[in-house]
Amino acid sequence: MKRNTNNSLLFLLFLLILVLLTSCCFISVEARKSHNRTRKPHKHHGHGHHAHSQSPASSPTQTQTYTFDVVSFGAKANGISDDSTAFLAAWEAACKVGGTVKIPAEHRFLIMPITLQGPCMPHLTLQIDGTLMAPPAISSWPKSSLFQWINFKYVHSFTIQGSGTIDGQGSNWWTSSQISPMQKGYYSQQIPGMKPTVVRFYSSNDVTVRDITIINSPLCHLKFDNSKGIKVNNITISSPENSQNTDGIHLQNSQDAEIQHSNIGSGDDCVSIQTGCSNIHIHHINCGPGHGISIGGLGKDRSAACVSNIMVNDVSMKNTLYGVRIKTWQGGTGMVKNVSFSRVQVEDVKSPIMVDQYYCDKLVCKNQTGTVVISGVKFDKIYGTYAFQPIHIACSNSIPCTDVDLTDIHLRASLKYRGFQQALCWNSYGKSQGPLLPSSIDYCLRSGGGYIKKIARSHDSVCY
Ligand SMILES: *[C@@H]1O[C@H](CO)[C@@H](O)[C@H](O)[C@H]1NC(C)=O
Ligand SMILES: *[C@@H]1O[C@H](CO)[C@@H](O)[C@H](O)[C@H]1NC(C)=O
Ligand SMILES: *[C@@H]1O[C@H](CO)[C@@H](O)[C@H](O)[C@H]1NC(C)=O
Ligand SMILES: *[C@@H]1O[C@H](CO)[C@@H](O)[C@H](O)[C@H]1NC(C)=O
Repeated sequence: MKRNTNNSLLFLLFLLILVLLTSCCFISVEARKSHNRTRKPHKHHGHGHHAHSQSPASSPTQTQTYTFDVVSFGAKANGISDDSTAFLAAWEAACKVGGTVKIPAEHRFLIMPITLQGPCMPHLTLQIDGTLMAPPAISSWPKSSLFQWINFKYVHSFTIQGSGTIDGQGSNWWTSSQISPMQKGYYSQQIPGMKPTVVRFYSSNDVTVRDITIINSPLCHLKFDNSKGIKVNNITISSPENSQNTDGIHLQNSQDAEIQHSNIGSGDDCVSIQTGCSNIHIHHINCGPGHGISIGGLGKDRSAACVSNIMVNDVSMKNTLYGVRIKTWQGGTGMVKNVSFSRVQVEDVKSPIMVDQYYCDKLVCKNQTGTVVISGVKFDKIYGTYAFQPIHIACSNSIPCTDVDLTDIHLRASLKYRGFQQALCWNSYGKSQGPLLPSSIDYCLRSGGGYIKKIARSHDSVCY
């Protein structure tokens, strides 16, 4: 009897322990579950050493999404304190295990010039819903970091998205031209020769930038160089018209890019395509204010330049200086080939169609032989109003442009302007096909030019 009581007591104790153990396990699973969502940093982050060293890839079939909120990494998020350290720590943590770096909505983060470097785990995302702000005072930029503000380097399969804003706070960098010469001396000491780009991707592959807004860059807003596999979709770029040299998107030595469904307006080119670019597709873009969509300037200081397979279609430009443009300096070498501009709607654009092989940033540039050869350029369905000159095609004296096609051009003088120039065409071979307006375009191009194509091909060899 006594033994029996002892046994049942033991059994009860056993049951209690069992219940306790199970609930403990359950709680710890719950804790780990919620842990997946937001990871808190170790107190002493920034040494490449984190508290959470467990492998994230516990299930090989399911990729988990970890979120690294910059606020939980110590960002003050008041737009005044420097949050660079927190941003960098969140980046480094996310880089190691993959997931999402989060810039939360309704917060502002002051960030100093920063390099976010890969390679990282694939499919890393930077979710920007709040605002990233550059230091507004020029004097607070380190002299050694004037090339760019946010520098993504060696990142692969990476996405920036969100409804947030990247604000370059560049107005202090633009003032130089709006001040008197007396003040200029004062300001030129303040404004360094180099101005920073807001977001730069260097040597990166398979990169997507979508939905975000980039504003007020000191120089270029979004730049890709030495990169491949670029997708830009549904972004907004905006700076005032009087901001100088502020390109929207700038591509250099980059291939396989698609830029689409975006609104770009700033003080310089909406999209600028530089040497080393090929397979670039730009479509469904609203551009303006600014200088339009531009290939070049290429061949400066007798340099070699190669640009090929550029397609621009379904773009709309309003109040821009140019529409679609190719510009080269005299004296360069290399080639621009296979370019098509189609379905371009212009409104009050000074010069909608422009090929300028005498590009010069001074009053006079010295005449030089040799040029970056232009061959295979189609202008198709360019419609709307011009404010100065409908077409300006000025090809090199030494080697003409070849295979330039003009089809279905409807350009009327804008009623808001006076003092128009006639269409200008110089040394360009190709064919035009109606309807063409103004009709003078019909005499723009020379036919034939077979012997020139041979010379052009020899220039193309520079590009391989
Ligand atoms: C958290 O991770 C566990 C595996 O460790 C997984 O089963 C669970 O679905 C994850 N929860 C969330 C919310 O991601
Ligand atoms: C474009 O981006 C905005 C956020 O800036 C978002 O609200 C909208 O849904 C996006 N549109 C598409 C088609 O993805
Ligand atoms: C010309 O460029 C387009 C892309 O813009 C490409 O699809 C086409 O194959 C290129 N043509 C040649 C001959 O390379
Ligand atoms: C360059 O050549 C053009 C056309 O031949 C000529 O009108 C111009 O004056 C020359 N410029 C200089 C700086 O020699």
